[in-house]
Amino acid sequence: PLKAVIFDLDGVIADTAVVHHAAWKRLADEIGVPFDDATGERMKGVDRRGSLDILLQAATRPYTEAEKHTLATRKNDYYREQIEHLGPRNLLPGARTAIEQVRQAGLKVALASASRNAGLLLERLGIADLFDAVVDANRISRSKPDPEIFLAAANALGVAPDECIGVEDAAAGIASIHAAGMAAVGIGQPLALAKADLVLPSIAAFDIGTFTTTRTANWR
Ligand code: G6P
Ligand code: MG
Repeated sequence: PLKAVIFDLDGVIADTAVVHHAAWKRLADEIGVPFDDATGERMKGVDRRGSLDILLQAATRPYTEAEKHTLATRKNDYYREQIEHLGPRNLLPGARTAIEQVRQAGLKVALASASRNAGLLLERLGIADLFDAVVDANRISRSKPDPEIFLAAANALGVAPDECIGVEDAAAGIASIHAAGMAAVGIGQPLALAKADLVLPSIAAFDIGTFTTTRTANWR
């Protein structure tokens, strides 16, 4: 039986995928490295250092470890400047309702975010108290698409992976959910999330009844 729903944060609950994108774009422009939407899409769900490595694939010279460290910090400074100003209005429409529905259905709720800023963001958005468990990049060692983060979330909730649904806006996240042995709901464009078991256009379309009143085989 379904016992828990594990949500990604950026691009699923919080309107911050665009903020990450803008911070990377600013950095890319400053160092003269090309950056397009497809590159931005590949960075989704990938941790900070992994995202920088994706950006630098288009660089015309190698960067030292020290330089990479400085660049990752710079991007984070740009990102932090923006999220300082965020509040509950930056929840994606329907996000709070989606989480509350899961709780009202008697299921557990966890967060699995690759962002080291996840804790701060949950506080800013005013939803920190809605989660039974929060796993962020500070608590794991392998980035999505590795299953570690979703497995750690299930473990923190005390439920088995096959009793969980994961909700993600990134291809790397869908892969992570599946590798963990969970069913995956994609939020966004079907083309980018082709591997998901179900794709919804936004979190506003999330309806827990889809998963609790029909057999998994009917939607998966
Ligand atoms: C999320 C976002 C990524 C971001 C990553 C790390 O997964 O989807 O775009 O790179 O978090 O975020 P951080 O806040 O730690 O730099
Ligand atoms: Mg995301």
